[in-house]
Amino acid sequence: MVVRPYEARDRAGVRDVCFATGYMGDPIAWQWRDRDSFADLFSGYYTDREPASALVADLDGQVVGYLLGCRDSTAVPDPAPMMVRHLVGRALLVRPGTAGVLWRSIGDVAVGVVRGRGLDTELHDPRWPAHLHINLLPVARGGGVGRRLVSTWLDALRADGVSGCHLGTWGENAGAIAFFESSGFRRHGPPRPMPGMRSPTGARHTTQWMVQDLGSGRRS
Ligand SMILES: CC(C)(COP(=O)(O)OP(=O)(O)OC[C@H]1O[C@@H](n2cnc3c(N)ncnc32)[C@H](O)[C@@H]1OP(=O)(O)O)[C@@H](O)C(=O)NCCC(=O)NCCS
Repeated sequence: MVVRPYEARDRAGVRDVCFATGYMGDPIAWQWRDRDSFADLFSGYYTDREPASALVADLDGQVVGYLLGCRDSTAVPDPAPMMVRHLVGRALLVRPGTAGVLWRSIGDVAVGVVRGRGLDTELHDPRWPAHLHINLLPVARGGGVGRRLVSTWLDALRADGVSGCHLGTWGENAGAIAFFESSGFRRHGPPRPMPGMRSPTGARHTTQWMVQDLGSGRRS
C-alpha cells in the first residue's frame, strides 16, 4: 500500500471511495442513492479546488482510501449553490433514494431554527483553520494506513506554520473517534445534531468536532 499525493487521474477513485464509505465507513447508498451529488458535496471541493492538500492510499494502482485536506476552512465556498443545481437540475427532491434524506434535512434545519439553533455544519475557529476528511475501504483498514495519511497531512501543516486542524466525525462512530484520539485529536464540545441522516432504526445522528493544536511556529 502506497500513500502518495493525489493526482487528477485519482478523481473517480476518490469519488467511489467517498460513496462507498459515506455512512461511517459503510456505503451510503441505502440512504442517499445519488453518487454524484454525494461525492460533489463531500469530495468535490478537495479534488477540484484544493488537490494539493489531498493524499491517496494506492493499492496496485487503485485508490482504496484518501485524506482530503483544506488549509484554510474559510476559503471553502458555500455548497448551497452547487446543491441547488443538483436539486433542480436532477430533481433530487422528488427522486426515490434522495428525496427522504433531503426533505428530512430541510425539516431538521427548520426545526433547529425554530428552536433557536443555527446550522452547525462548519467549525470556523482561527485556532484550527485547517480540516480533513479521511476514509479507507475495508481492504485498507487496520494496518496503519490511516495513521500514515494523518501524520503526513499534519506534518505538512506544521511545515507551513498552520496553527491547528479540526475535523467533524459522526458522534456515533466510536472507532473513528478512537482513531482520531490516538492520532492526537481531542473532542471539542458536545456532539451536535446532524441534519437529515438517520440510522437504519431511524435514530438521529450527530457531528462530533475534534481538534488538534499544531503549534504556531514555522519549522525551519
Ligand atoms: C478510521 C480510519 C481512517 C482509521 O484508519 P486505519 O488505517 O484503519 O487505522 P490505523 O491502522 O492507522 O490505526 C491507528 C490507530 O487507531 C486505532 N484505531 C483505528 N481504527 C480503530 C477502531 N475502529 N476502533 C478503535 N481504535 C481504532 C488503532 O488501534 C491504532 O492505534 P494504535 O496505534 O494505538 O495501535 C479507517 O479505519 C476508516 O476509514 N474507517 C471507515 C471510515 C471512517 O470511519 N472514517 C472516518 C470518518 S470522519
